[in-house]
Amino acid sequence: MTPPKRAPKHIAIIMDGNGRWAERRGYPRIFGHIRGSSRVKPIVREADRLGVNALTLYAFSTENWLRPESELRVLWKLLKKYFVKEFEELKKKNIRMRILGEVDRLAPEIRKVLDPMLEGLCQNTGLQLNLAISYGSRRELARAARLFAEDCLAGVREPEDMNEELMQHYLWTSDLKKFSDVDLVIRTSGEHRVSNFLLWQSAYAEFVFTDVCWPDFTPEHLRDAIREYSNRDRRYGQIEVAQPVSLLQ
Ligand code: FPP
Repeated sequence: MTPPKRAPKHIAIIMDGNGRWAERRGYPRIFGHIRGSSRVKPIVREADRLGVNALTLYAFSTENWLRPESELRVLWKLLKKYFVKEFEELKKKNIRMRILGEVDRLAPEIRKVLDPMLEGLCQNTGLQLNLAISYGSRRELARAARLFAEDCLAGVREPEDMNEELMQHYLWTSDLKKFSDVDLVIRTSGEHRVSNFLLWQSAYAEFVFTDVCWPDFTPEHLRDAIREYSNRDRRYGQIEVAQPVSLLQ
């Protein structure tokens, strides 16, 4: 399907509300994560089908490490299962996967399945699927400052080299190049917060908030959010209003 003229190139999703979804139904929170993880595949497929260039999913934040050990165990198990089960399909669909975040903090048994998967998909040129894992924007920016300072000390850079373009080079999204800026951020579950997610990259993003919890989020909801995005005026601080655009079918 041909995307509309102003379709978002990079969509980022804060997959929120797993715990509340489960609790409202009288289940333990982990049920929400199990159901939530099953929502990932149809959304990746739909983004791919719609011709989105990059999709970033907030799967685990730097703050999530503080959750109870029992919940963390389930989250890691689900992520591992996703890596194992989805590799073939992602490969076939030419999807490239990256991790944004502190990969070094992940347990060896996760790295054992994750690393070969990333390697196996790194030549792909289709949808750029980014999983934000052990990700926090403040950490990303602090890390960027540190890396730049190290480059200065090593004589590779001068302090006055720093500008907005060079900054991108030090972020976890650097590899995304022209797609590193986020066009549309979707947050599920009725919360209206950014929660330390892609602060630099979403400087000019449009935000769509939906009351639907992540375990109920479907491709139809994704299309609704894209439709809403397409109807907005993005002026980037200027005064000229963009032309109205065609909507997704
Ligand atoms: C937010 O719900 C969700 C998370 C912290 C984890 C997201 C993880 C998944 C959807 C599963 C695994 C991911 C992949 C990519 C396979 P919450 O627990 O904060 O919900 P609450 O706000 O209702 O408590």
